[in-house]
Order: sequence, then structure tokens, then C-alpha cells
Amino acid sequence: MKVSSIHRSLLLALSFSFDLVTSAKAPLLINPPGLAPLPSLKQATAAAAAAGLELGNIQGDILIGMKKDKELFFFFHINDVPTFRSHLSADIHPLVTDVTELLSNDTQPATLVNIAFSQAGLNTLGVTDQLGDSLFSAGQAAGAADLGDGPGAGTGNWEPAFVTGTIHGVLILASSTTDNINSQLASLQATLGSSITESYRLLGEARPDDQNGHEHFGFKDGISQPMINGFNGVINGVPLFPTQSPAIDAGHILLGESGDRSMDSRPPWAKDGSFLVFRQLKQLVPEFDNFLVANTPSDMTPELLGARMVGRWKSGAPIFLSPHADDPDLGNNSTRNNNFNYTSSDPDFIFESNQERCPFSAHIRKTNPRADFTIQSPFPNHIIRSGIPYGPEVSPAEAAAGVSTVERGLAFVAYQSDISVGFHTLQNVWANNQNFVFGKNISTNPGIGFDPIIGANQGAARNVTGLDPSSANGVITMLTDFVVSRGGEYFFSPPISALLTPLGA
Ligand code: HEM
Ligand SMILES: *[C@@H]1O[C@H](CO)[C@@H](O)[C@H](O)[C@H]1NC(C)=O
Ligand SMILES: *[C@@H]1O[C@H](CO)[C@@H](O)[C@H](O)[C@H]1NC(C)=O
Ligand SMILES: *[C@@H]1O[C@H](CO)[C@@H](O)[C@H](O)[C@H]1NC(C)=O
Ligand SMILES: *[C@@H]1O[C@H](CO)[C@@H](O)[C@H](O)[C@H]1NC(C)=O
Ligand SMILES: *[C@@H]1O[C@H](CO)[C@@H](O)[C@H](O)[C@H]1NC(C)=O
Repeated sequence: MKVSSIHRSLLLALSFSFDLVTSAKAPLLINPPGLAPLPSLKQATAAAAAAGLELGNIQGDILIGMKKDKELFFFFHINDVPTFRSHLSADIHPLVTDVTELLSNDTQPATLVNIAFSQAGLNTLGVTDQLGDSLFSAGQAAGAADLGDGPGAGTGNWEPAFVTGTIHGVLILASSTTDNINSQLASLQATLGSSITESYRLLGEARPDDQNGHEHFGFKDGISQPMINGFNGVINGVPLFPTQSPAIDAGHILLGESGDRSMDSRPPWAKDGSFLVFRQLKQLVPEFDNFLVANTPSDMTPELLGARMVGRWKSGAPIFLSPHADDPDLGNNSTRNNNFNYTSSDPDFIFESNQERCPFSAHIRKTNPRADFTIQSPFPNHIIRSGIPYGPEVSPAEAAAGVSTVERGLAFVAYQSDISVGFHTLQNVWANNQNFVFGKNISTNPGIGFDPIIGANQGAARNVTGLDPSSANGVITMLTDFVVSRGGEYFFSPPISALLTPLGA
């Protein structure tokens, strides 16, 4: 498909220098220093062959992570099923970008095209097979309060389009420019005509300049991702990236692969698909910054308080490895910045209760407790995060007033083979649970508290302990949320072959 157009442009460009040809198209992916490495095409091909994984049948966004520059989420409703199905096979299937295409600049399309469907969408398409995930089938709105969203029934702050359960699917378009995205969207809309209508859209954009790769609070994001066997994990017993997160079997992310705990209940056509959790998470940035200034204990700086909430400094340096000051070289270095597990050989370091280096409640410790979680080791609760920031930079007027007047945040995307084991455990069982991590001997036992970044209590106040290194049992109360859920939906990102059968016609 894209190969033919590349051949065409190479022919046209024969008289130009190689440099001109290669610099003509900006790469689709950004590569901020310090993020989890992608394998080379050669490494991924070898890993896939060893694990029997068909990377060419897997939608690219599932394994590529957060390294995108511009990304449009175009949510749609299907009106005309036969027309939509025939376009899905004939026109969309050839456009959908797989994993291997993204691993070299030569094969990257100008605009990535991926597509995923809600349960309502699969029902509309006449798919009767159950995928074996009850949270997916119920839809996200049904579980809003259970996720800690609030107030009231949970959907009070939600974007209306997400509340009604009428979104059938989402087109994901990513590129180095919004012009590319807009022309790809216009072409798709011309093809699909009135067989779909737009329900809602959200444009994500990586932040500019030295904030590239950082989320809106200012912290580098997308650093720690699970390494996946068959992609960038262990090949024939040898880890490709030994200083990264431990490798997990592909079935924790992809249906029907080794490690998928519901392997037996998946329809065969769903193999190599993945559940996509989408959440529009509004971030109140000037309010967060003011909270840090107003609540910093006298022995700390606001910068340290923020770093202890996240578990990393803004550069990405983990506070567990650099507890007193930021270390940009560490933050930039992906062979060092993810090589820790909250254990220490220091004899003075009482692992069971010590929060001096990193609070148990820190966002990255709540959502990936590493060696803290001893009940099940290794534990299966992993996601690949493939989101992107949305909304403009904070204006000087907003910063001066300390009040957000424009919405900005994180277009959160998580992929996993089981939403209950993945996203739902991280949000509901861990981040929102004041007693997680279990079994730590905090002397006066005030509990560990909420994840200060994403922990949610339906809008009510949240207590957090451990943020002050000299007073680990001291409680800081957060009266308001700095991350507010605007809702979302659960989708299934099918294997590319399923766009022909059974989804297409
Ligand atoms: C606006 C909301 C959020 C913000 C600002 C945010 C920010 C961050 C930052 C700065 C990091 C550290 C860099 C990195 O390791 O990539 C991180 C890591 C992480 N976040 Fe979030 N995040 C948000 C929402 C979520 C949600 C909703 C979840 C899941 C329920 C989540 C799960 C994770 C995980 C699993 C990690 C990696 C932890 C590790 O392996 O050490 N995040 N996040
Ligand atoms: C694509 O090219 C850019 C430079 O323009 C480079 O930094 C990046 O590593 C290349 N990506 C791949 C996947 O080869
Ligand atoms: C490393 O990080 C700092 C700050 O986080 C940044 O300004 C700098 O450009 C980075 N250096 C490299 C070599 O990427
Ligand atoms: C990153 O850290 C590794 C291991 O300490 C070191 O060998 C390498 O030179 C560092 N890279 C940079 C760019 O500093
Ligand atoms: C944590 O890391 C240490 C040091 O690398 C290692 O010895 C230990 O086995 C790890 N623990 C777990 C549970 O992974
Ligand atoms: C939060 O902590 C304060 C003490 O700082 C305590 O009075 C209050 O009961 C706690 N709230 C909850 C919900 O645990």
C-alpha cells in the first residue's frame, strides 16, 4: 500500500540528493530523551519470529507508546451498516498502520490511521461473539463512579458525548502536522460519507520546545513501559533492554497470545487485538502549581513536593535514585532512569516502612509498585500507555491568576488484554485505595492515602501520606482534584485482519 507511493516518490526524486529525499518528510514519531526505547525493525522482527507474533497484523498505536506529535481522536456513530462495512474492508483496511511500518522512517506513512470499536459499535456491526471482558461490554459510563469520577453518579463532569453510550468507534490519526491529519480525515470522511456521523473529537498535541515529551504539569511522561516478549522483551532468554522494566508476555496486552488469562474465551478473529481505554483527563495546572507553593512543609521546596507526588522529577529522574535534587542527565538516560524496583541493599534502609526516598503513594509507585507488591510476583497488572497531551500551553494570564480558563490535560490511552486486570486495577484498586500498597508498617497507621495525581474520591477530599520525607506519617489533605475526569469509553482495537472479516464486508 504505502510501499507503492514510496517507490513513486523515490523515482521522482532520483535526481535529488539522498539527504533531500530523507529530510522531505518529518518523522511521524517524536523521540524525547529518556523514554522507553523502541526496538529497531530488525530487533522487533527477530523477537516476533522467536515468539510467533505477527507484528504486521497488530495496529501500530498499541505498541508504540506516547511518542506522537499530533494525534486526533475522531469518535463516530455508524448510521448505515452495510455501507460502512464495505468501506471498512475496501478503503480503511488498506490504510491501517501496523506495528512494523512505524519502526523505520522509510515505511512510516505521513499519517498513522488506526481504528477501534466500542461494544455498542460491535453490536451495531452485527458481531455476536463476546470478547470476554465485562467492563468493555458494559461501557465506561456504567462504571464512572466506580472509577472515582464524580460528583454524583460519576458522570457529572463528563463530556456529554461519552455519557450517552452512543459512540460506536474511534479513528486515531497521528502525524507530525495537523495539516496531514486534516487532509487524511477529509479523505476518510469523503469515502465514508453519511455512513457515519461525528460524535466528538479531541486533538492531542505534544508540548513544544523543551517541554516536548512532558505532560502539562511539566513532568516527562511515557518513560516506563512494560517490555513485550515478541517486540522489545526477552529473545531466546536474553532481554533486549536489560535495564528497562521487566519483560511481560504479549498476552498481557494482546488477546489470544501467551499470557492472556482469558485465552480460551476469545473468538479466534480477535487474536492480536487489544482493549483501548480512552479517558479525557483535564489537568488544572496553575491550581496544581499554587497548591504546591501553599502546602510545602518548611523543610521542602514546592519542586520536591511535586516530584514526590509523581515519583519522578520534571526531567524524568526517579526520586528513588535521586531523592534530594533533580538530575537531568539521569532523566534523559533511558538505560538508567527505569532501572530500580524500590529495594535497597543499604542496611539502614528499612524497606517495609521507609518512604524517605519515595512515598508509597507516589503516582508511579501506586501504578507500578514493582518489588513492593509481594502478594503476586510477578504481578499481571500492566498497561501500555499511548496517550498525548491536549489543549494549549498555560497563558501568562492564567498563571498570574492561578486559575485555568481553557481546558488542557491528557488524552489518556491504555492498552491491555483485560481492562479489569489493567486500567481498572491501577485506577480503582491501587490509585484510589488509601491502604494500597498493602502490608506496609507505617507506625501510626494513617494509611498510605490516594495517588496524589490520579487518585479520585468522586470529587471529595483526599488524604495522602509520605510526601514529607522527614515526617512519613504526616497527612496532607487535598481538598480539590488537579486531574478531573471528563469521561471516555472502552474500545477494542481489532487485529487488522478482522477489518475484513468479521467487521467488514
Ligand atoms: C492527567 C493524568 C496523568 C498524569 C499527569 C500522569 C503523569 C505521569 C507521569 C509524569 C509519569 C512518569 C513518567 C513515566 O514513567 O512515564 C507517569 C507514569 C505512569 N502513569 Fe500516569 N499520569 C496520568 C494518568 C494516569 C492514569 C489514569 C494511569 C492508569 C490508571 C496512569 C498510569 C501510569 C503508569 C502505569 C505509569 C508508569 C509507572 C512505572 O512503570 O513506573 N497514569 N504518569
Ligand atoms: C527517524 O528519523 C529521525 C531523524 O529525523 C531519527 O531521530 C529517528 O531515530 C528515526 N526513527 C526511526 C524509527 O528510524
Ligand atoms: C536533558 O534534559 C534537559 C532538561 O530536562 C534538557 O534541557 C536537555 O536538552 C536534555 N539533554 C539532551 C542531550 O537531550
Ligand atoms: C547513560 O548511562 C549509561 C550507563 O551508565 C552510560 O553508559 C551512557 O553513557 C549514558 N548516556 C548518556 C548519553 O549519558
Ligand atoms: C529488585 O532489584 C534488585 C537489584 O537489582 C534485585 O536483586 C531483586 O531481585 C529485585 N526484586 C524484585 C522483586 O524484582
Ligand atoms: C484525613 O486526615 C485528617 C487528619 O489530617 C483526618 O482528620 C481525616 O479524618 C482524614 N480523612 C479521611 C477521609 O481519612
